[in-house]
Amino acid sequence: MTTETKQEPLVDELASAISKVHLDQREIDSPKSLREAADLILQAKNILVLCGAGVSCAAGIPDFRTPGTGLYDNLQKYNLPYPEAVFELTFYAKNPKPFVSLAKEIWPGFKHKPTLTHSFLSLLADKEKLLRTYSQNIDGLEYLANIPEERIVECHGHFRTASCINKRCRTVADAEVVKETIVTKGEVPKCEKCNKYVKPDIVFFGEDLPERFHSLLSPDLRKADLCLVLGTSLQVAPVSMIPDMVKCRRILLNRERVGTFGKKDVFHAGDCDDSIKVLAELLGWQDELEQKHKEAHASIGKEDSEKSKTTATK
Ligand code: OAD
Repeated sequence: MTTETKQEPLVDELASAISKVHLDQREIDSPKSLREAADLILQAKNILVLCGAGVSCAAGIPDFRTPGTGLYDNLQKYNLPYPEAVFELTFYAKNPKPFVSLAKEIWPGFKHKPTLTHSFLSLLADKEKLLRTYSQNIDGLEYLANIPEERIVECHGHFRTASCINKRCRTVADAEVVKETIVTKGEVPKCEKCNKYVKPDIVFFGEDLPERFHSLLSPDLRKADLCLVLGTSLQVAPVSMIPDMVKCRRILLNRERVGTFGKKDVFHAGDCDDSIKVLAELLGWQDELEQKHKEAHASIGKEDSEKSKTTATK
């Protein structure tokens, strides 16, 4: 964990007042919702962020449920009984081919780069305002955006490790071999010990979330003083329940209103990156954000695969 800043109360108040003046002085052509959001972010010290697929859309990765463009509307070639079957454990145990073919296509590499929204989260971490980002995404872009590892919870797992799906075996497989079997050979990986199927540690429907999610959530819910929800339809439990469990103000930046977000909350409709751009301007952070974003993109080619291979937090 990074160390928290301990400021004297008076210094704290002064800093908040100065920030407010700074905010009020901005050219305010911006929507009220984003001005409110900026104000809340300035005051917050422990922001709990909840991300969904919408955060990565600007990187060229489709979301799941947007009609027409979402992944679930584009799986016809796999002849599934229903789209979600591709991420179902019982289905995989009987017919692993559709997931393996899909995984070959979507395996995280360096084709996709972090979005401005990812970089904003990394900037929140620099400013010691990011308590944790709970991401439902399996694209690993949080790491590529340089958000510190201890600030990330990959609620729905990742591709960096793999294990046997047999509940009585659960042997950890060699991740590089699994990647080669799926991505290079297009074959279904099997367990060396029991010969049942192996899959990357993506959380399928019917599976529990990683231990890290369970151990961090309760203390984080107690500590959070602001909840920022980004680019998710809030349709998959238990992550979808997080906004209803916090005891603080909530902000939703999404194309449409979702979950239980209502009048007491701050909601801004639109694409995440567009909202974040305005937010950064309101906060007076646009130069820092641009710099952060440039650095993240520049470091991707250089450090190559090491970053996404080795930062495995289960
Ligand atoms: P969904 O596809 O269900 O929802 C994406 C949400 O983001 C929708 O409300 C979109 O309108 C909105 N959206 C799309 N593009 C956006 C953008 N550029 N800016 C802002 N909002 C945008 O995706 P998730 O909620 O993330 O599970 O889905 C949750 C889980 O369902 C996923 O983690 C996945 C899936 O089954 C696994 O992969 C295991």
